[in-house]
Amino acid sequence: MTTSDPMMKRASASFLPPIALDNNSPMYRQLYDWFRTAILEGHLKPGRRVPSTRSLAAELKVSRITVLSAFEQLYAEGYLETSVGSGTYVSRSIPDDLVTLRKVAPRDRTPEGGQPPRHLTQRSGLRKVSRFGMALLSAPPEPWSNRLGPFSVSTPALDRFPFGVWSRLVIRHSRQPANELLAYSDPTGHPPFREAIAEYVGTVRGVRCDPSQVMVVTGSQQALEISARVLLDPRDAVWIEEPSYPGARQIFAGSGTRLVPVSVDGEGLDVKAGVRRCRTARAAYITPSHQYPLGMTMSASRRMLLLDWAARNSSWIIEDDYDSEFRFGSRPIAAVQGLDVNARVIYIGTFSKVLFPSLRVGYLIVPKDLVRAFSRARENSDLFSSTLYQAVLTDFIREGHLGRHIRRMRMLYANRRDALAEEIRKQIGTTIEIVAAKAGMHLIIRLPAKVDDVKVSQRAAREGVAVMPLSICYQEKPRRGGLILGYGGTDLQQIREGTRKLASVLRPIGGSQ
Ligand SMILES: Cc1ncc(COP(=O)(O)O)c(C=O)c1O
Repeated sequence: MTTSDPMMKRASASFLPPIALDNNSPMYRQLYDWFRTAILEGHLKPGRRVPSTRSLAAELKVSRITVLSAFEQLYAEGYLETSVGSGTYVSRSIPDDLVTLRKVAPRDRTPEGGQPPRHLTQRSGLRKVSRFGMALLSAPPEPWSNRLGPFSVSTPALDRFPFGVWSRLVIRHSRQPANELLAYSDPTGHPPFREAIAEYVGTVRGVRCDPSQVMVVTGSQQALEISARVLLDPRDAVWIEEPSYPGARQIFAGSGTRLVPVSVDGEGLDVKAGVRRCRTARAAYITPSHQYPLGMTMSASRRMLLLDWAARNSSWIIEDDYDSEFRFGSRPIAAVQGLDVNARVIYIGTFSKVLFPSLRVGYLIVPKDLVRAFSRARENSDLFSSTLYQAVLTDFIREGHLGRHIRRMRMLYANRRDALAEEIRKQIGTTIEIVAAKAGMHLIIRLPAKVDDVKVSQRAAREGVAVMPLSICYQEKPRRGGLILGYGGTDLQQIREGTRKLASVLRPIGGSQ
């Protein structure tokens, strides 16, 4: 209750411990807090007389109104009481146990059924949380997740976004917005936006749907969470590509399902290996257009095999089509959803890569019979997405700005990919293995078997370089690690400097020539 701030006001009345006030928050609030804390901590006992508002105001050199406001609140909440003609007292009716509220050492340090992660127990001890909470906390800190450093994965070229067009559209919808853009709205999304999305994915991705199947969400991550909630029960088995997107693994693990890693090869997910490991899995999570993180495209025969397995087994396919718009040199491959005749595919798309991640807008294309359940789950989660931004995006798509931006970024990313591969060869060495699909916004360099990629990423993070360790994408320990380098949001100068820093991190551990 004391501070060394030179601006603060102090009063040290003989009958009260010192009251210190500063200029950082309203005076009446500080005075209220002081009395409340003093009463609850037992410094001011029930029945004790407190000074009059006039004398306290004079002593503290604040206005009497300030003191009156604080006291009014304290009366209203039962901390103070008055006795006509004889002054103000600490309330006698505050229960003793409230007055003696003390810090209690928690008795639930170790949660049932599991060990809290070491990095948490070492520091502060973890009180009992749910199994779901434990699963969320099991991942160690990730210092490489500096989303603005060079090579940050999943970051598009933010400085190339058409801000002029965007701000014009935002203003158009913000000046005198229709009530429907401001009020509570449909959990599945703004109808014109859902129509625009249905048309876009139908034309560009070969997805077969009508607007009633489109559900707007706050990005792929929420789409995955809702899909898991609606389709899966705890302990259900789920095929997950090995390696795969850690965000998806976290969702499925967090919902209590049993992850079954299924290897990928040059043709994408090895469906036969999945059948051997667990034929009866309830769902398969796939990134068929551009496998995350290795980059291959799932072959047509594997797609057919997977669809056949799902139909025979009544399983779901969760298709995450996160960056398929960026293919350099060849046309985008149509979505698995478009081949499905048994309505077994839940398709997920996002604007995080084609526009920018903080927009938090993505979409699900859901089989017709599941729309109601998905919509209810969406409503339970966060009601609906910002309708105003959905209206802006509708115009952005309809007026051709999205298509134009994607075409420009495709060229830019193709150049950045080539420049990065070149720079790696020049600065790190020609023998280093680069895995770089002609698509997307990242590439991979493989490290020698003995090198710990997590340690390398941590060292690189200290140098300001945001490379992600490949091994964190694996469920089981990989034979060799690697580094995932995003180039979408990394310009040519950052590519040169970032590669130089990376080479200096790799040299002492034999990962560079
Ligand atoms: C494969 C994959 N899926 C989903 C996402 C999440 O995207 P969103 O921002 O739409 O939640 C990412 C983000 O990097 C990703 O790489």
